[in-house]
Amino acid sequence: MSTEKTKDESYTVMTELVLPNDTNLLGNLLGGRLLHWIDIAGALAASRHSEGLVATVLMEAVEFKRPIKLGSIVALTSYVTRTGSTSMNVTVEVHREEPAAGIKEFITKVNMVFVALDENGGKKKPPRCVPKSLFRTSLTAPFQHIFHHTSSAAPSIILVLCVVAASLSF
Ligand SMILES: CC(C)(COP(=O)(O)OP(=O)(O)OC[C@H]1O[C@@H](n2cnc3c(N)ncnc32)[C@H](O)[C@@H]1OP(=O)(O)O)[C@@H](O)C(=O)NCCC(=O)NCCS
Repeated sequence: MSTEKTKDESYTVMTELVLPNDTNLLGNLLGGRLLHWIDIAGALAASRHSEGLVATVLMEAVEFKRPIKLGSIVALTSYVTRTGSTSMNVTVEVHREEPAAGIKEFITKVNMVFVALDENGGKKKPPRCVPKSLFRTSLTAPFQHIFHHTSSAAPSIILVLCVVAASLSF
């Protein structure tokens, strides 16, 4: 298992369609159904980050800013923002979409905490969540296999190669 990961590595998009069985008598999505989807979306990001089982420990206050109508598409995006010894903070953002009406609307944003578990249900340490590095993720993307096998000297080596290549092109 990696010792460090960026939040992009846990980034998850979960998409649901609001069907009649998901709604109340006004034809709007039930709050409990949305909480269930938020829990699953959060757990997927936490599980991707920790590469294993997770348990939900905390879901902070959830505000439903708009009703979500029957037939809407609900997009839930989630990602790990911070890690502790065994815990992971996860943000879940919810939007609703009505493609035919050209609507895409923010519904809510929820902060959650999950604990990383081993296969026996005991707590385990997840990889540390580190800020995204432009250098490591985009500029050097074609060279990631080199980073995998080399030390922290790799970025300097790549930089030198880029400078040499740039000067040869003049
Ligand atoms: C998850 C569980 C195994 C953790 O065991 P525990 O002995 O209570 O663990 P700890 O008190 O050591 O807390 C573990 C981590 O969670 C964090 N945590 C616990 N409660 C928290 C809370 N209310 N808010 C934020 N973080 C919390 C702790 O700070 C700790 O973080 P760290 O290890 O990064 O420092 C246990 O609480 C459990 O099984 N809970 C039920 C989970 C579940 O069934 N969820 C589904 C909904 S019912």
